Amino acid sequence: MVGTQWGDEGKGKFTDLLSKEASMVVRYQGGHNAGHTIVVDGEKFAIQLVPSGVLYDHITPVIGNGVVVDPFVLLREIDMLTRRGIDCTRLKLSGNAHLILSYHQELDALHERHLGKAKLGTTKRGIGPAYADKSMRVGIRVQDLLDENIFREKLHASLAHTNKVLTKVFNRLPVDPDQLADKVLTECLSQLRPYIADSVNLIHDALDAGQHVLFEGAQATFLDLDHGTYPFVTSSNPIAGGACAGAGIGPKDINRVVGIAKAYVTRVGSGPFPTELFDQDGDRIVDIGREYGTNTGRRRRPGWFDAVMLRHAGRVNGLTELAITKLDVFDTFDTVKLCVGYEIDGQRVDRLPYHQSELHRARPVYEEFPGWNTDLTAVTEKAQLHPNAASFLNAIEERVQVPVTLASTGPGRDQFLHWTQT
Ligand code: GDP
Ligand code: IMO
Ligand code: MG
Repeated sequence: MVGTQWGDEGKGKFTDLLSKEASMVVRYQGGHNAGHTIVVDGEKFAIQLVPSGVLYDHITPVIGNGVVVDPFVLLREIDMLTRRGIDCTRLKLSGNAHLILSYHQELDALHERHLGKAKLGTTKRGIGPAYADKSMRVGIRVQDLLDENIFREKLHASLAHTNKVLTKVFNRLPVDPDQLADKVLTECLSQLRPYIADSVNLIHDALDAGQHVLFEGAQATFLDLDHGTYPFVTSSNPIAGGACAGAGIGPKDINRVVGIAKAYVTRVGSGPFPTELFDQDGDRIVDIGREYGTNTGRRRRPGWFDAVMLRHAGRVNGLTELAITKLDVFDTFDTVKLCVGYEIDGQRVDRLPYHQSELHRARPVYEEFPGWNTDLTAVTEKAQLHPNAASFLNAIEERVQVPVTLASTGPGRDQFLHWTQT
């Protein structure tokens, strides 16, 4: 299950929904930059690291090797969920996942400040610096915690370089490796230890037993390090292929790829956004859709649905189906728009331009649809859907060329309907 836009499409809600058919839910990339929301009987859960399947007793939630984990945040989240009556004892944490430590978060904030106007608008959770350390091969893995000598040795080696950056480039205080090691070992290790596991074999044992495993993408296709609007992206691969590397499965293990898309688009942070709205329609989307970050509280930038982007997402993810969320946000709109192509320097373009400066100049070409002026929030059957809303869904399916199988009409677990059956 992957985000097909710039994040916050409703992946949490659909992971929860699709968990009914699975026995294991695996996060394969990102970290606590994600904020996935699930609403059950009016009670809201906003989860950053623990896979969204955790609310079900039959699910084994797995944090895969491709995730970057702040151990303090993970323990706080487990504690929060446990206090709210959610059993987290089945959680598994890959020993190969990399750690986010305090200095990664500090570096994230410093890099952003250093970029000034060119800042990316990161979540400042330390994601980029932690993945950079992983690529530089000075990262520290969850399994390193299990051997105190190795952990201290690696922390010393990594900080030898990082402390030079902190002190000489950013004029900050150095981090004492032993003090940090003491803190992590005393405050986290004994609590984390029961969760640490060989996630790759666990996943394959489940697959071998004929069970369904759901891979929960965080972030989204256009925040992907390779396929997103670089440099305004995250530092991992949220696309479906990322699940192979980030969980240790082969492409042939995947038989269904569900793309989640909002009935419009939002983006948090900087970067190009062809269908962005700066008018009253945009304000209404933000107000009605409550488009403020689950994680950072930032106002999300709103825009019309972009079928050009979605077609591209269909390709790079190999989408077998689409789930459309937040249809109800348009309940009081007279007109809704769908971007079906771009005009770039006077030319009509139907594909996402590979040269990003063209994307900055792209002017969306819209198809307009009459609104439905009806409350959809209680609609759970295809037959009950207002014909204008049905036409809009049909147009999305036709323009994106991927079947829409599910549509969501409210944040609640039960507010959805099956559309085209697969
Ligand atoms: P994620 O990061 O993709 O899991 O999405 P977020 O949880 O960050 O943001 C999606 C928001 O939309 C959450 O507040 C959800 O509760 C809410 N939501 C999901 N589906 C729907 C829907 O169909 N209608 C409405 N009104 N809200 C929805
Ligand atoms: P979910 O899983 C929306 C954005 C940030 C910033 C860029 C880089 O809830 O959809 P990072 O902290 O990852 O280095 O920031 O990516 N971003 C998200 N935007 N939803 C998310 O997660 C995001 N995670 C990161 O706003 O533009
Ligand atoms: Mg989110």
